[in-house]
Amino acid sequence: MWLLLASLLAFSSGALSQDKLNTCMDAKHHKAYPGPEGQLYLQCVPWRENACCTANTSTEAHSDNSYLYNFNWNHCGVMSTKCKKHFIQDTCFYECSPHLGPWTQPVDQSWRKERILDVPLCKEDCHSWWEDCKDDFTCKTDWHKGWDWSSGINRCPANSKCRKWTEVYPDPKSMCEQIWSNSYLYTTHSKTSGRCMQLWFSGPNPNKKVAEYYLNNAQQHQSFALTALLLPAFASFSVMMY
Ligand SMILES: *[C@@H]1O[C@H](CO)[C@@H](O)[C@H](O)[C@H]1NC(C)=O
Repeated sequence: MWLLLASLLAFSSGALSQDKLNTCMDAKHHKAYPGPEGQLYLQCVPWRENACCTANTSTEAHSDNSYLYNFNWNHCGVMSTKCKKHFIQDTCFYECSPHLGPWTQPVDQSWRKERILDVPLCKEDCHSWWEDCKDDFTCKTDWHKGWDWSSGINRCPANSKCRKWTEVYPDPKSMCEQIWSNSYLYTTHSKTSGRCMQLWFSGPNPNKKVAEYYLNNAQQHQSFALTALLLPAFASFSVMMY
């Protein structure tokens, strides 16, 4: 009986974690399942061994007002090249990463069924993003909503005005967390810690191990809760038997 319970628990949590460790979000341009993509473009190349993006998506991620989301980076004058490269990397990460399972949430939106929430970002990636953008301008804090889409691409809404980046986002944390409505969580972990997700990397994808770490920690809590729930039932059952 105990053996059955134990193996059931082990099996279900094992199957669950495998699924969450290598998966693609149910969203606008994601593939159904991750897999190798030999033809990924420029900044998306690091994901070529295992990706949720197609070659087409990776190319489109590099162009202004691309067919992906018609998103206009240049809504307050032309965005600087050094700033834009971080948004391209952010797009590659979002579209290509197969290791976002632990932070994927269901969402009721016309263009996607799932989103990411509170993905713990490495400090260096958030800081360099903010540093490279801090001389640019924007009119909005949350770039997910509130735009004027009447022309087909996003423009600053009537009640807003273009302000210095640093007025809108006083520090890296406010930018990383607010720009995509808490898709990212600011952390003070560094890229070598294994406790944060990296937007920028080369070589084997370091984010797999990070996802594994967060999944195992969350899962221990779940298994513990489940065991705590089931134990009394099984204990009383055993008592009845003897
Ligand atoms: C990607 O696919 C879309 C839709 O099929 C197409 O309009 C676009 O030209 C393609 N882009 C590239 C770079 O091949």
